[in-house]
Amino acid sequence: MSLWRATEGVTRPAEVTFAVDGTDVSAPAGEPLATALAAAGMLGLRDSPRGGTPRGAFCHMGLCQECVVTVDGRIVQACLTPVRAGMQVRLGGTLR
Ligand code: FES
Repeated sequence: MSLWRATEGVTRPAEVTFAVDGTDVSAPAGEPLATALAAAGMLGLRDSPRGGTPRGAFCHMGLCQECVVTVDGRIVQACLTPVRAGMQVRLGGTLR
């Protein structure tokens, strides 16, 4: 599944490719990673440490921590992380 992305009247940087759990994903360079993942249909970014329920981006402004993923070995907030070519993303990051 992929979500709709506006194209008419919108100018974006060239797309770059990065890997998410070994799968190539393309998105405009600099787009927030959480947005790029949602556009690729990847809405479940981690599991709750308590109940194991899937969690995904909620606030999109760095407050809720629901979008935590691992990028190049570092735990980051996907909504605050710009997409760049070659980044290695692993879903399932946790703040535990
Ligand atoms: S979506 Fe809330 S911190 Fe990223």
